[in-house]
Amino acid sequence: MKALVLSGGKGTRLRPLTFTCAKQLIPVANKPILGYVLDQVAATGIKKVGVITAPETGQYVEDYVSDGSKWALSVDYISQEPLGLAHAVKTAQPFLAQDSFVMCLGDNVTGQGLNAFVQKFQKERLDALIILKEVDNPSSFGIAQLDNEGNIVRLVEKPKTPMGNLAIIGTYLFSNKVHKAIARIKPSWRGELEITDAVQEMINMGFTVKAEILNSWWLDTGKKDDILSANAKILDEYIERDIKGNVADSTIDGRVKVEASAKVVNSTVRGPCIIGKNALIENSFIGPYTSIGDNSKILNSNLEYCVTLENVIVTDVERLEDSLIGKNAKVTKNQKNRTIKLHIGDYSEVEV
Ligand code: DAU
Repeated sequence: MKALVLSGGKGTRLRPLTFTCAKQLIPVANKPILGYVLDQVAATGIKKVGVITAPETGQYVEDYVSDGSKWALSVDYISQEPLGLAHAVKTAQPFLAQDSFVMCLGDNVTGQGLNAFVQKFQKERLDALIILKEVDNPSSFGIAQLDNEGNIVRLVEKPKTPMGNLAIIGTYLFSNKVHKAIARIKPSWRGELEITDAVQEMINMGFTVKAEILNSWWLDTGKKDDILSANAKILDEYIERDIKGNVADSTIDGRVKVEASAKVVNSTVRGPCIIGKNALIENSFIGPYTSIGDNSKILNSNLEYCVTLENVIVTDVERLEDSLIGKNAKVTKNQKNRTIKLHIGDYSEVEV
């Protein structure tokens, strides 16, 4: 069995961060989301992974994943114009050959590994296994309708009038029969070759397609608030108290990770939180569910439920909450008067 990890796409919903980064590389708890996906792939014992990349951001993905040795995986890069999830599978066909595979979206994280799904897929000799989870906003996802025995009856991509609330979470297992179905489908109204249509076609063709409901959390990190929620979830589940950096005249409460060469001076840090390598926290309060990226400086400021990427400077800001701050950004209070002065990138969002 192989794995196909989708790290292409356009990333328009996360601009401006995605001008200089692939969306799958946005960190939660200071580690790219794609890293968690590859951890879960590696834990199944699968060794061969195809990573789909987009022409604009592919190099960033290759720089991070490299030869895959960090995960003991062998990695093939497959460049694809973002024309849909089924188009990605079609483009990867030479890599996939006749093998079955697990397909994961590089910007989706779950609290449950892949092992149980791989075992079910193999034991029951399925042609497709798709993983579902109840959601409150079914119009934003692919939605599956099940019969009383739990078999999939129908699948619709982002339905305007949803026929249920079971969303397709972006983890799929396929036999090589999926290629036959993809060969028969046409692009959707949004111009994409939809994997949802391919699975529906597999059902129509009489292949064995089953669904499984995820019994843990799942986050699609496509937008700012999703990144903040994923950050909170990962901090909650994985961060242990681990103070490697330098702490002086400060209070560190609870599960806080202070990376080596970071400095916390005259400040309070309340976990769960992570302070990245070589970061400086001075005369500040860092509240729960915050990740401070490597080389960032937080001076005379109060932050809570925030993610700052690398090399960010926040100075003299009384209160910053629910914020996602991109690499090399500066946020400063204007000390002289109460005017707000901005120098922000295209597609930024600022709430004042
Ligand atoms: O998040 C789950 C949802 O993912 C499912 O419920 C939907 O059925 C499925 O179509 C998909 O919907 P999205 O609109 O959220 O997909 P998105 O365009 O965000 O792409 C998902 C991932 O796949 C993302 O990491 C980018 C990558 N991708 C996307 C496209 C369209 C590719 O690598 N190539 C592509 O052509």
